[in-house]
Amino acid sequence: MILDKQDKDSVLRIAVLASGRGSNFEALCNGDTGNGRISLLITDNEKADVLRKASALGVEALYMSPGRYRTKFGEAEEREWAQLMKDRGIELICLAGLMRIIKGPILEEYQDRIMNIHPSLLPSFPGLHAQKQALDYGVRITGCTVHYVDAGVDSGPIVLQKAVHVKDDDTVETLSGRILQQEHIAYSEAVRLYCSGVIASSERYAYKREQ
Ligand code: GRF
Repeated sequence: MILDKQDKDSVLRIAVLASGRGSNFEALCNGDTGNGRISLLITDNEKADVLRKASALGVEALYMSPGRYRTKFGEAEEREWAQLMKDRGIELICLAGLMRIIKGPILEEYQDRIMNIHPSLLPSFPGLHAQKQALDYGVRITGCTVHYVDAGVDSGPIVLQKAVHVKDDDTVETLSGRILQQEHIAYSEAVRLYCSGVIASSERYAYKREQ
C-alpha cells in the first residue's frame, strides 16, 4: 500500500506514547516532521519525566491507566487508549520508550500507522537492553532503527536506520548516549517521510525515496 501524498498544508496529528524520560518525544516536538504535528502525549506512568517535558512544550499530555498487567495492556484499557486517539483525530502513533506491548485494539485501529524507535540495528538485538546486547556480542557497528509496529517484538517493517560505531572503551552508558543522538535525528526524519507519503508501510523494504 502506498500512502496517499498528504496535502502539504494540512496538519497530520501525531500521538506519542511514552513511559519514561521522553527525550525522543522532545526531539520529535522540536524536529522537522514536515506537516506532522505532535499534538498528544499519553503515558502509562504517572511519574514519567515525559509529562513535565510535554507541559513545558505546551503539548496536551495525559496519564491513562494501562490496566493491571506489567508489560501489556488490559483489553478494556487498550480500547480506551485507541478510542481517545481516534476521537482526537490522531493519524499516526509514535512509540517512544513505551514499556508495554501493543497487540490488541490499538494495533487493529492503527495498523500500518504506528512507528517505534529501537536502539539497535534490527533485526539484531530486539527487546530490552539492546545496547548491552550489542556490547556483549562484540559488534563493531550498531545503531538505531525506526520501524512499523506489528504484533511481534521489534519485528515490523523497517523505515530507516542510523549506524553508530562501537569504540573499544565504550560502556553501555557512552554507547547509549551516542545511539540516542542518532535516534533523535532518525525519528523526525522517519515521521517526515511518512507525512510526505513516500513510504509504503505494509511491505518490507518499504522505504522508497522519490527519485
Ligand atoms: C530509547 O532508547 C528508545 O530507543 C527506546 O526507549 C528509549 C526511550 O528513551 N525504545 P526516551 O524516553 O525517548 O529518552
